[in-house]
Amino acid sequence: MKLAKYIANLGYGSRREVMRMLDNGRVTSGDGTELTEGDDVAHADIRVDGEPLDPPLGSILMLHKPVDFECSTRGSVRTIYELLPDRFRLRSPIMAPIGRLDVDTSGLLLLTDDGQVNHRITSPRTHLPKIYAAELANDLTGTEAANFASGTMLLESETEPLLPADLEIIDSRRARLTLTEGRYHQVRRMFAAVGNHVVSLRRTAIGGLELGDLPEGEWRTITPDERKLLGLL
Ligand code: URA
Repeated sequence: MKLAKYIANLGYGSRREVMRMLDNGRVTSGDGTELTEGDDVAHADIRVDGEPLDPPLGSILMLHKPVDFECSTRGSVRTIYELLPDRFRLRSPIMAPIGRLDVDTSGLLLLTDDGQVNHRITSPRTHLPKIYAAELANDLTGTEAANFASGTMLLESETEPLLPADLEIIDSRRARLTLTEGRYHQVRRMFAAVGNHVVSLRRTAIGGLELGDLPEGEWRTITPDERKLLGLL
């Protein structure tokens, strides 16, 4: 791919704007040599205004989503794109969330511009476990774990039973729930179905990939080893 188109696809501007950046000497290699449209340079060796390029096409990011941010490009409240460089929304393809967390849920959110990877992780057939830490309004009764694990639980207005889910009780009002599917507001609706109410919800892991100590509101790219924890090569 031609250099201007490559950089434009990363959200740095239109192709014409990037051509102008090249003409103005703003695009260089690591050693400061000015690049031109015909140059064939590896991603890691390209600089714009002296700065390394954003993560290459096909990257996966993890974001520690805070509450009150929506997983959409625009909305009535703040969106996750306010936590990322503006360019990530302007990339072609866009850096899109892999699945969603609702506005009141915090925690691990993955994003990628690779549609196949997005599909592989979110496909209902993948059954990648997702772990949620929930705080509840009422004490657990002790019957929830068996209910959630039964494989026969029905959510209101649904006819397909939920897949078995694993509930680990931490204390009377805190629990860790592992799901292998992702229905609309599933955790909140599961606890509502057993007469409880989720007061706070945070996703802590997807597959073997954990949020770890990434501060709230921050993002980073995931490593090749971490891709394997998502079942990717
Ligand atoms: N379950 C929910 O209720 N909300 C989420 O964001 C994810 C799972």
